[in-house]
Amino acid sequence: MADGNITKDIMYDAVAPDDFESMLELDRYNARSTAFDKIISATHDHFWDPLDKKYIDFDEPWDMENEALQPDHQIMSLGIPYVREHLEKTGQKAKFINEMTLWNFSSILHGEQGALNLSASLCHVLKDQGAQEYAANQTREEARHVTAFAKYIKARWGRPRPCGSVLKQLLVDIIEAPEVFKKIIGMQMLVEGLAMGAFAAGYQYNRDPLAKKLFQLVMTDEAFHHKFGKIWADRTIPKMTEDERNTVEDWAAHCFQSLLFNLGSPNQMADVYREFGLDPDKVREEM
Ligand SMILES: [Fe+2]
Ligand SMILES: [Fe+2]
Repeated sequence: MADGNITKDIMYDAVAPDDFESMLELDRYNARSTAFDKIISATHDHFWDPLDKKYIDFDEPWDMENEALQPDHQIMSLGIPYVREHLEKTGQKAKFINEMTLWNFSSILHGEQGALNLSASLCHVLKDQGAQEYAANQTREEARHVTAFAKYIKARWGRPRPCGSVLKQLLVDIIEAPEVFKKIIGMQMLVEGLAMGAFAAGYQYNRDPLAKKLFQLVMTDEAFHHKFGKIWADRTIPKMTEDERNTVEDWAAHCFQSLLFNLGSPNQMADVYREFGLDPDKVREEM
C-alpha cells in the first residue's frame, strides 16, 4: 500500500494520524469488528487501582542502604570479578544492586509511558471501532502502570533515572510512525513481550514484597496487551507477500536489537559505575 501500511484484515484498516474526518464516515459506525470484545470486557475483571491501599500500599518500608532488593544473579555486572570484588571490598554491594534495580525500574517506567502514548496513537490511526476501543482501553491500563511505577520509584529512590538513548529512540520511532505494523510489532509484540519476561523475573526474584505485588498486578493487564499483538500477527503474517515479510522482519530485528542493547550495554550505565568507584571502560571490557 502507498501509505506504508500492510493491511491484511479490514479490522486493522488505518488512516493518517491527522485524518480525523475519516472517523466520521457513517458506514464505519455499523461495521465494528467483534474480534477484541473479549479482551475489552476482561478489563473489568482485572481492574486494580494504584491509588487504593486495598490493592497496593506504597508506604511499606524497605532499608535501601543495607538490604539488596534482588539476589546477585539478577545483576549481570556482578558476574564480572572486577566489579564484584570491588563492591564487596568497599561494602557497597547492596547499594549497587539497588542502584542497578533503579535502572531497571526506570526503563520500565519510561517503557510504560511509551506504551501509554503508543496505544493513544493507535486510537488516532485505527479505523475499526472495536480495535479503537481496545486501544483506548490499553491506554487507560498503561496510565495506571505509569502511576504505579512512578509511585514505587518515588517511594524507594525518590527519582527515576533518565531514559537510555536507545530505548528513547525506539519509543519515539514507534509512537511517531504512522504504520500500524511498526507500532504493533514494536510495542505489543516486542516491548510488551520483553516486559512480560522482566515482570515475571521481577515477581520471582525481587525480595521487596511491594515490588512483587506491583509486578503481579501489572502482569494481569499486560497479558492482554501481548494478546492484541498476537491477534494482529495471526491475521496478518500468513497473508504477506515476500516483500512485506522482509519489511516486517527487518523492523522486528531493528526493534529487538534496540531492546537488547538497552538491556545489556554497559555504556548507558557509565555514570552509575563511576559513582561506585568503578572504571566504566574496564567494566565494558570485562563484560
Ligand atoms: Fe504496561
Ligand atoms: Fe502494556
